[in-house]
Amino acid sequence: MKLKNITADIEELIITNISEKELDDRLRDGIEKGVVSGEQWFRNYNFWYQTPAFANPYKTPYEELRLVMTKEKTLKPHLVRTLKVYYGLGIGDTEIIPVIWDLLVDKYAEIYAIDVIRDFIENFIQGLKNLIYYPQYLNSKIKFLGYNTLFEKLKPTDFRLDNIKYERFTHICFGNTIGNFDQYEIFSIFKKLIKQDDYLLLGYQLNIGEKLIIKQYVGNVRFNRLIKACIRKFENLKDKEIKWKYNDENDFVEAWVDNILVFRSKKYDQKKLEDFARDYGFEIERGKLRKPLHFKEGLVGVSLFRKIS
Ligand SMILES: C[S@@+](CC[C@H](N)C(=O)[O-])C[C@H]1O[C@@H](n2cnc3c(N)ncnc32)[C@H](O)[C@@H]1O
Repeated sequence: MKLKNITADIEELIITNISEKELDDRLRDGIEKGVVSGEQWFRNYNFWYQTPAFANPYKTPYEELRLVMTKEKTLKPHLVRTLKVYYGLGIGDTEIIPVIWDLLVDKYAEIYAIDVIRDFIENFIQGLKNLIYYPQYLNSKIKFLGYNTLFEKLKPTDFRLDNIKYERFTHICFGNTIGNFDQYEIFSIFKKLIKQDDYLLLGYQLNIGEKLIIKQYVGNVRFNRLIKACIRKFENLKDKEIKWKYNDENDFVEAWVDNILVFRSKKYDQKKLEDFARDYGFEIERGKLRKPLHFKEGLVGVSLFRKIS
């Protein structure tokens, strides 16, 4: 697979390896097994675009984006001159910041972006195209490839990229995307795909709000509409009420329809996350005075890990 210049035609910049049928089958299968998997919520991407800013309990631009920007001095020296691999782009507002740092330092960036939703990849491409018309980034070069597929389908060989300059990759998963998964599953995916010495930069939500956080979901008409849209094809489920629950055992905010878990979002403790990631070969990266690179802002955390084995 080859990264292309960001000025190329959009069709050249995105490879597709997923179909609506595959996603429909996964949804049906998930409903039978009692767990709807995270990619399904974003298939109705217009409802994600329509739950912006503070209306969305994720509040990414107000907390994660600000946190990453305020930690520029600490994070930038680690991240520049690495190829950025994105696991999920969504709106893409935090995701663009490491690219801006690359352009500031080197007027050059290499990006490989994976998302099950093609529209999010297209949106990110447009953002990158706009970026290089800013006077301060003029004459910058961005090499890009979008891979429209499921994380679950990725193989190590999908990371054999031709014509790249950077040896080290930074794998980035922002916006609490990890929280939508079974934790063993998402960390097994990272373990399989990330090579030794590469970085893993995670943005996630903290468990400090505990039961209070659930109040941002219950009765949130816009967020409930997003979740409900996944099950609207199922006559026996579509009119049923969503029941929200904070699971004290594992810090998941859960949404149930009958006995089907239709949405889940884990909230994290940074030390526990560090210990969990270690079992998958990741150590927290350390900065000055060997301080662990865990950061917090409001209800959000960001951590930089390195694959050591
Ligand atoms: C919670 S959003 C976070 C992205 C962005 N920070 C935002 O707030 O919009 C999750 C993103 O990951 C993508 N995604 C979720 N599950 C996926 C999967 N299994 N495979 C590929 N992409 C997935 C979604 O389409 C979405 O773009």
